[in-house]
Parts: sequence; C-alpha cells; structure tokens
Amino acid sequence: MKILFIGDIVGNPGRRAVTEYLKGISKSSEESYAKNSYDFIIANAENAAGGKGLTFDIVDQLLAAGVSVITTGNHVWDVKEILEFIDTTPQLIRPANYPVEVPGRGFTIVASPDSASKLGVINLAGQIFMNRYTNPFHELDSILSEIKTETNFVILDFHAEATSEKIAMGWHADGKVSAVIGTHTHVQTADERVLPKGTAYISDVGMTGPHDSVIGSRVDKVLESFLTLMPARFGVAQDNVKLCGVAVELDDATGLAVSIRRIQAQI
Ligand SMILES: [Fe+2]
Ligand SMILES: [Fe+2]
Repeated sequence: MKILFIGDIVGNPGRRAVTEYLKGISKSSEESYAKNSYDFIIANAENAAGGKGLTFDIVDQLLAAGVSVITTGNHVWDVKEILEFIDTTPQLIRPANYPVEVPGRGFTIVASPDSASKLGVINLAGQIFMNRYTNPFHELDSILSEIKTETNFVILDFHAEATSEKIAMGWHADGKVSAVIGTHTHVQTADERVLPKGTAYISDVGMTGPHDSVIGSRVDKVLESFLTLMPARFGVAQDNVKLCGVAVELDDATGLAVSIRRIQAQI
C-alpha cells in the first residue's frame, strides 16, 4: 500500500499547491507522484483557510482533489463554521485527546475505492508547549484497541511542538502503527526512518504553502511583531510555494512500513 501524507496546508497558496501537485503539474521531478500513484492521500489542513482553520468549501475542494482523509490540530476551531460540518464529515478528524464532549472525531477508517483495503487514521496532539490535551500515549493505545479489529494499516498524525515528545511517540508506537507523522512546526525534519519494529517515522513533515514566510505568515508583519511586541495581523505570505510531504510504502500483508521518503516539491 502506498500513502502520501501532505504537511500543513497554509492558505490559498497551500491549497493551490495541493491541487497542482495532485494533478501532476508541479515544476519538480516529483511529477510521477500524482494522485494515481497512491492508495490513500492524507493531508493536514488546520491552516488551510487564510492560515487558520477550515471551511466547508475547502474541505470539499481537498476531497475533490483526491485527499482521502483530512487531519487537523490546535487551529481546528479557528473558523467557527467547522462546528456545522465536523460531526457529519467522516473524512475530517481533529486531535483525539480533547475532552469527550468536544465535537468531531479523533480517528477514522476509510476504504479504498474498490473496498479491498482499509486505512485507519488517528490524529493526536502533544502536551508540551500546547493546549492541555489529555495524555496522547494512553489515548493512542485505547484507540488502537478499537481500530485493530478492522485493519492493521494505521497512520498517526502527531501534532506536537517538541521533537522529544514526537520521538518518544515514535518509539511508543513502533510496531503498533504503520507510521507516525509529525505535524505542527511547519519545518520539515531530515530524520525520516523506519523504526526497528516497522513503524515509519518523521518528526515533522513540513509545510505546504509559501516558504518565503515565517511558517506561512508574512515576513514583514511577523518581524514587526517581534520588533515592537505589539499585536499584528500576520496574513498569509505568497512566494516560494512548496508542497512538503512524505511517501510511505507499507507491506500489504502486515501493514508495517517498507520505506518512508521525504518530498519537497516546488510549485
Ligand atoms: Fe499547522
Ligand atoms: Fe498546529
């Protein structure tokens, strides 16, 4: 099974990058990795609407472009409209370690178009330098006891700030899930590997959006804020648009990872 995971999509430039990349019209040599090359495509889209949050139309656009599951993170609630559709959109998930009464779901299981294979996708958030989420390690184990009755193909989007927490999660999940993909920092790390018990891992998959920016926001506005300490509306930058992601190949018999490869495609 081949899976493409696309890192945090930021604003209109990020959405355009996804559409163009999946149509195979990016400028890079990654063109062969278009939509048809993958069994499932997962994308973190917590910043897809103007840099923060998600709208119904954007979810619709990403699913139409070929994305199978949309993951999110701490920015999931930034556009209030999401409350109208998060409960009725099974392909859209938010961190599972929110209190139980919070709308939406923390994991989902999707089937391939021919129903031959099923993929579980889990979204968890870290606790270090983040909101007061419940313990993601315990939460993973409890979700896996449910998912594993249906499929051994499981991808975890671990949305966290601290590399130590992400690496610890990689070891905790090794052999239990197909891949642990870090999101949230918007900076791709060069530590992708398959761990000893067969779980693919990367601390952060990186950002899909404008890279002449400060993690997606306008450089001038962010600098103004750092220099004056006054609040500023950052806005989404526009230039040097790249899609960042990873391609993960899984063993069809076990669901464990065969390989993980970083992608940075200039759009
Ligand atoms: Fe993000
Ligand atoms: Fe985030």
